[in-house]
Amino acid sequence: MFYEKLVGWAREVWDKRHPGVEAVTIWASSECSNRVAQKQVKAGRRLRAKARYVGMEHLDCPLIVPISDYGARGRKMVLTASAGAYIFHFTEGDSPFEVVYASAYMSDDAQELSAVAIVPENRLQAWAAFELACARAVRPRIRRRRDVYIIGGTDAFFDPTVEWTDVILPDALKTKILEDIEAFFDEGVDIYRQLKLPPFRKLLLAGVPGTGKTMLCAALARLAIRHGRVVVYVSGSDRDGASFEKIQRALQAVAAARFPVLLIVEEFDAYLRGDDKARVLNVLDGIESPNNPKGALLLATTNYPEAIDERISKRPGRLDRIFVIPTIEDEEQAILMLRHYMREHWQDNHAAVVPDLVNQPGAFVREVALHARMIAAHERQTEVTLDMLERSVQSLLKQLRSERDFLTQRHPISLVGAAVRRPKATSESD
Ligand SMILES: Nc1ncnc2c1ncn2[C@@H]1O[C@H](COP(=O)(O)OP(=O)(O)OP(=O)(O)O)[C@@H](O)[C@H]1O
Ligand SMILES: [Mg+2]
Repeated sequence: MFYEKLVGWAREVWDKRHPGVEAVTIWASSECSNRVAQKQVKAGRRLRAKARYVGMEHLDCPLIVPISDYGARGRKMVLTASAGAYIFHFTEGDSPFEVVYASAYMSDDAQELSAVAIVPENRLQAWAAFELACARAVRPRIRRRRDVYIIGGTDAFFDPTVEWTDVILPDALKTKILEDIEAFFDEGVDIYRQLKLPPFRKLLLAGVPGTGKTMLCAALARLAIRHGRVVVYVSGSDRDGASFEKIQRALQAVAAARFPVLLIVEEFDAYLRGDDKARVLNVLDGIESPNNPKGALLLATTNYPEAIDERISKRPGRLDRIFVIPTIEDEEQAILMLRHYMREHWQDNHAAVVPDLVNQPGAFVREVALHARMIAAHERQTEVTLDMLERSVQSLLKQLRSERDFLTQRHPISLVGAAVRRPKATSESD
């Protein structure tokens, strides 16, 4: 086994440096060899009580392939998780001590670092404090932009500037969602508190891609900010993916905010797929939920309501409400959407394409309108004619059909499973 060889090597290093001195071998946290942690946890850092981190030396270990992961920190690309061997130096009171540490990819199947360390048994507390400092340094960052905390997402596209009236959905649905949120912050928080429950309400927006869920979240975020609430936005679309770590960071931000919080978690289903599912359920159940006495409202979105299984959707209290965000339901709504995206180019005869827009997501109509306007520009026309609009609808429908055929041919079996993401309705839907 590879780990046996690695431990054997680390033991040899230890015995050479400290002949006859006892120490234990432990599974260590792989974050101590993360380059971000190594930069941030600086020599001289106080760890706990009288323990300090003094510095490190790199060791060449013939067993370890030195390979690094990388990712964005702000606008820069930096090395992150790395395999490697080190001596970490510490002092506790007046006495120095050291730890031999090695992290490597131990399994051929999983791209996951594991680490071992040789630590004097009486120094385990200090070592644990060092591991914690490293782990904290590499957690997904929270960036605050205006009144929005963004967790995850390298080019965080979430911009809470969408006008409520620009979101075109059935009025009754918009009103219901808004009223639910307002009722919670206005009266609900006190009622939860009287019942000695943490004031935490959970709503899910479910719908196929491109129906306006992200847009709705952005519009609700804008309203929340106007009401003096803080918005925490969690995205799983960066390299760190949908990790529970992010939810945890979000909950910390929620608890630390001294204001009511709107917590937005996009593609919520992704957090329910991995090993962290039980922990996500704990959050929904209130066991690990944020403790913010001013109230927190979770607004989660999903394309895959089927991934939110019965354990969640049928058990009262886990998700308080599920709102289905529909595709365009009827011609009346299709006209509203088309006029909205055609703006000053709208002509009454454009209504002829409306039957083709029913049952499509809003993103489809936006694309149709954009494309038609581009056809006009290309043909050096100032007017977008019905013919251009019809060509635009047909070419988009054709594109969607061929995308679908392509994917069905490539994945004849797995398309029915959850493994393949459905194609987005447009290339720009978010
Ligand atoms: N209901 C709508 N009203 C107005 N515009 C819409 C609507 N739905 C979609 N659009 C347009 O389509 C774009 C994509 O929509 P959005 O990103 O909000 O979809 P989504 O439901 O979040 O999709 P996904 O599930 O893929 O994340 C929006 O930026 C907007 O331009
Ligand atoms: Mg979205």
